[in-house]
Amino acid sequence: MEHLAVIMDGNGRWAERRHLPRLMGHRAGAEALDRCMHYCKAAGVKYLTVYAFSTENWKRSEEEVSGLMKLLSSFIASKEKTLVKEGVRFRVIGRRTDLSEKLQSEIAALEEKTKDGDFTLVVALSYGGRDEIVRAAMKFKGATEEEFAACLDTAGIPDPDLIVRTSGEQRTSNFLLWQSAYSEYYFTPVLWPDFDQAEFDKALDAFAHRERRMGGRLK
Ligand code: IPE
Ligand code: IPE
Ligand code: MG
Repeated sequence: MEHLAVIMDGNGRWAERRHLPRLMGHRAGAEALDRCMHYCKAAGVKYLTVYAFSTENWKRSEEEVSGLMKLLSSFIASKEKTLVKEGVRFRVIGRRTDLSEKLQSEIAALEEKTKDGDFTLVVALSYGGRDEIVRAAMKFKGATEEEFAACLDTAGIPDPDLIVRTSGEQRTSNFLLWQSAYSEYYFTPVLWPDFDQAEFDKALDAFAHRERRMGGRLK
């Protein structure tokens, strides 16, 4: 598998079950992302896209939103050295002008510093599939699907092979609407902070048993 995408859901419930503030769940979620990146590299996956904040997540409390933004900013600051050392190319998709100017410039700097990495971590931030498609349509001057795809935030990134959603919810919540046309889906009740190597292996194993016909015939 070349590209794994994950809807990292269930951080809030993970914290609530422990009588902790939701933000502690998001912190544990950031650690789970760190681990997942390593599972991907070890398994030969080349692209990992994670849904970190949707265009709809701005509706959450000011406390949760600002906590998440701080967490992102500290993730960027603390991971810079390791990402460069480990050859991880960092890239953000989404409506980045929604983010603070400080965060926008931290993101741009990290993208630049890591641009030569051979493993790509794509973080979807203030991301909505419909929003991405509308912004692409504003730029679009061509006529083909390929030309349209080149106007999306994901230009140059292959479509995801598998999309995993944790926490038992079975919906896309506006994630990679265009790119998921032929992706396989895998849903697990496990909450994102608890997503470990065994769960990762289960998801990859399930994927290995899927028959991807892409509209073609069975042999
Ligand atoms: C996913 O966890 C992370 C974000 C949406 C930022 P949630 O915060 O949605 O966790 P639940 O769904 O409330 O458990
Ligand atoms: C989707 O999770 C967005 C992220 C994981 C960042 P949500 O928790 O926001 O989605 P809904 O509200 O359950 O659909
Ligand atoms: Mg959720």
